[in-house]
Amino acid sequence: MEAFSQLVQRAEQAFGQARTPAELEDAKARFLGKAGELTARMKELSSLSVDEKKARGAEINAAKQEVEGLLAARRQALADAELTRQLQAESLDVSLPGRRRGSGGLHPITRAMERIESIFGSMGFDVADGPEIETDWYSFTALNNPENHPARSMQDTFYVDLNDAEGRPLNLRPHTSPMQIRYAQAHARRYAGAATMPEIRVIAPGRTYRVDSDATHSPMFHQVEGLWVGESISFKDLKAVYLRFIRAFFETDDLQIRFRPSYFPFTEPSAEIDMMFGSGPLKGRWLEVSGSGQVHPQVIRNMGLDPERYIGFAFGSGIDRLAMLRYGVGDLRLFFDGDLRFLTQFK
Ligand code: DAH
Repeated sequence: MEAFSQLVQRAEQAFGQARTPAELEDAKARFLGKAGELTARMKELSSLSVDEKKARGAEINAAKQEVEGLLAARRQALADAELTRQLQAESLDVSLPGRRRGSGGLHPITRAMERIESIFGSMGFDVADGPEIETDWYSFTALNNPENHPARSMQDTFYVDLNDAEGRPLNLRPHTSPMQIRYAQAHARRYAGAATMPEIRVIAPGRTYRVDSDATHSPMFHQVEGLWVGESISFKDLKAVYLRFIRAFFETDDLQIRFRPSYFPFTEPSAEIDMMFGSGPLKGRWLEVSGSGQVHPQVIRNMGLDPERYIGFAFGSGIDRLAMLRYGVGDLRLFFDGDLRFLTQFK
């Protein structure tokens, strides 16, 4: 019969060959398990005499203890190796530079809008917001835009596959001018029974849409509408307000504006506002920045006001254009491409 010392040696070898805890458990079963070699030896004892049992039993126990000791040592060795492996795999290189959390910034158009709001706010203008999906009436009819006006055509305006209460398709507003009507209507309703009505003084900045796309036109763009209606608001008020606005926006007094006769259905008379820098790279060039005019009596009526009593001015300026001029951006599309290399310059 094989000496116990040999059995212990084989166990040691088997444990040593086990590369994983699972393999080690297999090896353990072969020696110490129910069907293991040492257990089998134990079973043989029954056929021996009492004295022999004693001697052999002691030998088996000693061998068993040795094997258990070897097993425990191997378990520990495997666990240590696993720990070392993990530590190496998960080790940190503390000398690597950290990952920065970039600080965000406002989009240049948002910045321009906030400037515009604060400048007009300082002149007592309210700021209003309204729907981008509009009814035909607010986008066109209420603004005295005749049925056959090109602004209504499919080439200019995006239409939505939904009709309003009058059965006319909704549109993506092609300008912020509907906000003149919405705001003035609400104002007129609020003071309907009152002896006097406070003046309407509001700007409405926001997104607008037109079927148009090139370096200076985007199908989605931004406008700011302005409206000042009272009992004696005239073009001279418009000129004062607009000049003050544009000088504050560009942070220079070295800048002029001029009115150029024009046509809009919702104003009469109408004018384009041009501006010109007195210095800098654009010095001496007239740049168109806004449409404007005296609010048409029919539009005053559509606001729910009496055109015999109320008069005022309105304007509508392209915010993207103003932002391009302010930041020296040559291509409007850059604002909307979402390229961080461009956008982070404005942080
Ligand atoms: N809504 C016009 C446009 O988008 C701009 C405009 C012109 C607005 C004259 C006005 C205005 O309020 O009085 O082209």
